[in-house]
Amino acid sequence: MRNFLIAGNWKMNKGPASTRELLDNLTNEVTEAPDKVEILVCPPAISVTSALSAVEGTDIKVGVQHVSYEDDGALTGEISTGMVLETDATHVIVGHSERRQYFGETDATVNKRVKKILEDDLVPIICVGESLEQRQKDQHHRVVLNQIKAALNGLEADAVSSVVIAYEPVWAIGTGETATPEQAQEMHELIRDDLADKFGEEVSDSVQIVYGGSMKPHNAEELLSQTDVDGGLIGGASLKADSFSDIISVAAKLAG
Ligand code: PGA
Repeated sequence: MRNFLIAGNWKMNKGPASTRELLDNLTNEVTEAPDKVEILVCPPAISVTSALSAVEGTDIKVGVQHVSYEDDGALTGEISTGMVLETDATHVIVGHSERRQYFGETDATVNKRVKKILEDDLVPIICVGESLEQRQKDQHHRVVLNQIKAALNGLEADAVSSVVIAYEPVWAIGTGETATPEQAQEMHELIRDDLADKFGEEVSDSVQIVYGGSMKPHNAEELLSQTDVDGGLIGGASLKADSFSDIISVAAKLAG
């Protein structure tokens, strides 16, 4: 069976010094990942080396929040997969709704990024999710399946088996409003069935599909106990060591 992935998306929070402080607090509580649970933190790129040194000797993995799909060149402000590979970071968040909303990320650029990330043996965490308006118009199934179709366009089943998908309903991100466990399970199952149709059962069984959108210690158990919810992409609650480690404990309990 799949491992849980408990991943923190720190967004634009924590420079190198405050990263060290947060991770020193976290590693006071957790150093070994519980059986069948993976722990990941994704700080801003400037803090990645600080994060890696703070988690050295623990099972906590480090990822980044964005990369270019180009190798190098005149692209002020961007970072490349090659730069990520010079560190020990493992995962890259792609297509987050904030990138789609504020930085011109489209389904086509998500696809280019996913290909580049996989080519360089990093793990993409592909974010998909509908807006409130789309859900109210009952378009959420179609929207999410289209985002996934575009993100995985041109990939072989083998490659698809190493992606992570994050279902993040836009209306639940940073709002304190969470999808109900039934809503989350319904969407995760839809995604898994779609992967099975296109890439086969084996692939669909192996892909981690995590939930994101106001996951907190108090609602983690009901979300993580759903059959097709394999973890969380956690924003706000990952910025405090105690709330993040509480969610890790919930995953540990359910995995055990
Ligand atoms: P949130 O963010 O937990 O603060 O809602 C989740 C995300 O955007 O990945």
